[in-house]
Amino acid sequence: MKAFAPTEQELLVRLKWFVQLRWLFLLGLATALFFAVKVFGLGMNLTPILIVVIAVVIYNFVFYFLHRSRNRHPEREVTLRGLRIEANLQIGLDLLSLIFLVHFTGGIENPFIFFFVFHMLLGSILLAGRDIWFHAIFTITILFILLGLSYFNILSHHQIEGFASEELWSNVPYLWAGILSFGTTILMAVYMTNSIARSLRHREGELFFTKNQLENQSKKLEQANMELIRQQNLLVQSEKLASLGKLSAGIAHELNNPLTGILSFSHFIKEECTEQSRLQHDIDIVIRETNRCKVIIKGLLDFARQSKPEKKSGDIIQLLNKVISLVENHKDFKNIEIVKHFPEELMEIMYDKDQIQQVFMNLMVNAQEAMPDGGALHVSVRISMDMEYVVIRFRDSGTGITEENMKKIFDPFFTTKETGTGLGLSIILGIIENHEGKLEADSELGKGATFTVKLPIT
Ligand SMILES: Nc1ncnc2c1ncn2[C@@H]1O[C@H](COP(=O)(O)OP(=O)(O)OP(=O)(O)O)[C@@H](O)[C@H]1O
Ligand SMILES: [Mg+2]
Repeated sequence: MKAFAPTEQELLVRLKWFVQLRWLFLLGLATALFFAVKVFGLGMNLTPILIVVIAVVIYNFVFYFLHRSRNRHPEREVTLRGLRIEANLQIGLDLLSLIFLVHFTGGIENPFIFFFVFHMLLGSILLAGRDIWFHAIFTITILFILLGLSYFNILSHHQIEGFASEELWSNVPYLWAGILSFGTTILMAVYMTNSIARSLRHREGELFFTKNQLENQSKKLEQANMELIRQQNLLVQSEKLASLGKLSAGIAHELNNPLTGILSFSHFIKEECTEQSRLQHDIDIVIRETNRCKVIIKGLLDFARQSKPEKKSGDIIQLLNKVISLVENHKDFKNIEIVKHFPEELMEIMYDKDQIQQVFMNLMVNAQEAMPDGGALHVSVRISMDMEYVVIRFRDSGTGITEENMKKIFDPFFTTKETGTGLGLSIILGIIENHEGKLEADSELGKGATFTVKLPIT
């Protein structure tokens, strides 16, 4: 498996941390210089050291402001390449400063030369393998060259008076031993830290991958759970409908005959006593209410029958147009604007014309009843994304449905209307399920409701 380079976020955090660490280092250096000069009375030329310190302060400020502007504009894109360049720059500049500092404070005689090791350790955490090896070899080479140049008196040697022995820097065996121990320590440190950092990064990458996978799985589980709940609701609904269907079929059938009797005899009475206006009025009420009972009974029978649809091939848009032209002329639809969003092409599917007509009619009447003061009813037809269904959507701008009622609208006899039977939606749900289709409702209270019918294409 491939080793993972530190990701942008990590690198960004580490680079900021590097800037803070540099402030600390400057503070430490100032303290060390103070003690060296004031307490131990060591003699050294402070000017070049100060120049290096000022350079460090300047470039650290640059990096500091760079990170601050990144914090303020998080929308700006940060690339891994940009961060890598910055990391190389930070480490490179630090190494150069350290080389100069060491050179101006005694070179190989200065025990602080082992600060390089510390810096290499930090660099290995920050950078990927190749880059840090480059820095290590670069440092050793420059130091080697500096030692050579001062040994051959091409560059002047900066002795710290009162510190190390004066001949140390020109003692050839000491120089070789110094450069050898320095070089191997640096290379070993880089090798060790780098391999540890690499395996850590690798593991981090694996963790990241596993975390992503877990998140995906949990999302899938959540979806499956929701689907399960939906299916369970449907099951409960269809069980309710089935048992209610059997029960009501019997009762409705038995009630239909006596109701027809009541109605016929009421008409006889009405005809016989044309003179008595009081009785006429009362008998009219009996006739009206009996008719209402018959409507309810018819609904119950429709609901109970839920007969197997007699499907024939036909264009669904043509049927919709027919239902729309039927309702459009009705007085209740006077203030309702019906907006059609129909595609050009035909939508031929298999369906029972009478039953589906009843579905569309019911949904449009419900929509109209939800907009007593008028409004707009958008009717659209399209093919579902998976190409498996024709999707017919009725969106009204009516009262909408409360969350509480949403759970009940498909229950038989649930109604919020004074004269409603509450059977409309349960009947059409039965019809659509018999067509192996789907019926979905959605609503935003006060803004309207949307009913979506999905009928299978094959
Ligand atoms: N488009 C809609 N906007 C707002 N509420 C609706 C809409 N369609 C249905 N409802 C709600 O769902 C309930 C049940 O509707 P359903 O069609 O089953 O019965 P109903 O319309 O009340 O009675 P019926 O259909 O017998 O006249 C309604 O009473 C109403 O509260
Ligand atoms: Mg209705």
